[in-house]
Amino acid sequence: MSARELTPRQVVEALDRYIIGQEAAKRAVAIAVRNRWRRQQLPAELADEIAPKNIIMIGPTGVGKTEIARRLANLVNAPFIKVEATKYTEIGYVGRDVEGMIRELVELAVGMVRKEMTEVVRLRADELTEERLLDALLPAGRDAPLAADNDAAETRRRTREKLRVQLRAGELQDRDIELTVDQRSMPAGMLATFGMDQIDPQLQNFLERLVPSQSKQRRLTVREATQTLFQQTCDQLIDRDRMIEIALQRTQNSGIVFIDELDKIAGRRLDEGPPDVSRTGVQRDLLPIVEGCHVNTRHGSVWTGHILFISAGAFTQSKPSELIPELQGRFPIRVELDELTQEDFVRILTEPQNALITQQVAMLKAEDVDLEFTPEAISEMAGMAYLANEQLENIGARRLYTIMEKVVEEISFLASDAVNKDIIIDADYVRMRLADILQDRERSEYEL
Ligand SMILES: Nc1ncnc2c1ncn2[C@@H]1O[C@H](COP(=O)(O)OP(=O)(O)OP(=O)(O)O)[C@@H](O)[C@H]1O
Ligand SMILES: [Mg+2]
Repeated sequence: MSARELTPRQVVEALDRYIIGQEAAKRAVAIAVRNRWRRQQLPAELADEIAPKNIIMIGPTGVGKTEIARRLANLVNAPFIKVEATKYTEIGYVGRDVEGMIRELVELAVGMVRKEMTEVVRLRADELTEERLLDALLPAGRDAPLAADNDAAETRRRTREKLRVQLRAGELQDRDIELTVDQRSMPAGMLATFGMDQIDPQLQNFLERLVPSQSKQRRLTVREATQTLFQQTCDQLIDRDRMIEIALQRTQNSGIVFIDELDKIAGRRLDEGPPDVSRTGVQRDLLPIVEGCHVNTRHGSVWTGHILFISAGAFTQSKPSELIPELQGRFPIRVELDELTQEDFVRILTEPQNALITQQVAMLKAEDVDLEFTPEAISEMAGMAYLANEQLENIGARRLYTIMEKVVEEISFLASDAVNKDIIIDADYVRMRLADILQDRERSEYEL
């Protein structure tokens, strides 16, 4: 069974490895991804009619909304992008620019597919790279043998094999070689810097072609050249059209767009401020994309009708029922995420695969320090985090990060020079590190 064919139960189990609690949200996303697989099993005429059941996650900050969506995408190998609904209310973003999110999603998908295809051709690309490095290390130039000169040819062959052995042993990494490097187009990264992902994709392609393709002789070390040659070889071995085709398909059929802060564009505007161009305007802009439309990207047209949209928000100032009706209909699944309790904090500190405690212990292990947190210490940290959330501002599990940093600050500073390599953090130590701060409200507002 491939990752994309996970059953809902398996998806929830996998999410459980990273996220504590939030059962309802996990189930909802698990069903949503399974439904996509189910849809793809159906005859085309039926499948085309079935729209994804988009989800609204309702819950306070820092309880796992984004984390669930992100882990899910990872798990099922889906191109994933997170956008903030409020971004589209800013001047200059109003209008069709919401399509930019789909373009970004496609770019991500292309990157994913390129990476996968690189893995497929890696062995062959490594071989070819090695040959080209050897060509450069032993240029065919002046002392090239005459066809008849068998001895010279044999010597040359042996030299080449000797170089190969040295190359593989990593002995030639710093040697300089001459290499022809062609720069076909502006790198994608440059486009992003110029904000070109916002401009018309046709124009973008056009601009790219304006940059002349050039090949240049360059001096590089073997180390640098290996990287460059490997990339070049991969570009030659990978069928670009197929790569784009797969990426477009994957965007359409398994792409996930996470729209954060949906609550901020719902309902009436409560605060004062410049005239409200936004809110329902942004909702109207989002609507065609969520309902299904064709978006032009520089890799081709994308149909958005089967992309999964997961949106999130606290919905304290507004309610999902205050969204425009069409949008409500496109987000039929509503799940609430729970406030995290002190017990949840204990579990979050210890249980996830990437748990904070595990990370901290591993970090100090690099200094040969054996760090241990007693169960009482962990419970104390969870309690303090809970308290700080109550007294200051509720930032959910994010509070654990600031608490952890305060607790280990001194140990972390001294660890590199520590003589005693066994360090135990107990409840007293946690209290000592945190108590004054928590009692001094002003300090805690800055430090926790
Ligand atoms: N239930 C949870 N289990 C494990 N870790 C969690 C949980 N909730 C939050 N975290 C951790 O806290 C951090 C913040 O969580 P996340 O980004 O999901 O918050 P959010 O619900 O999206 O909040 P916001 O509304 O502010 O975007 C993440 O790094 C995540 O690891
Ligand atoms: Mg979030």
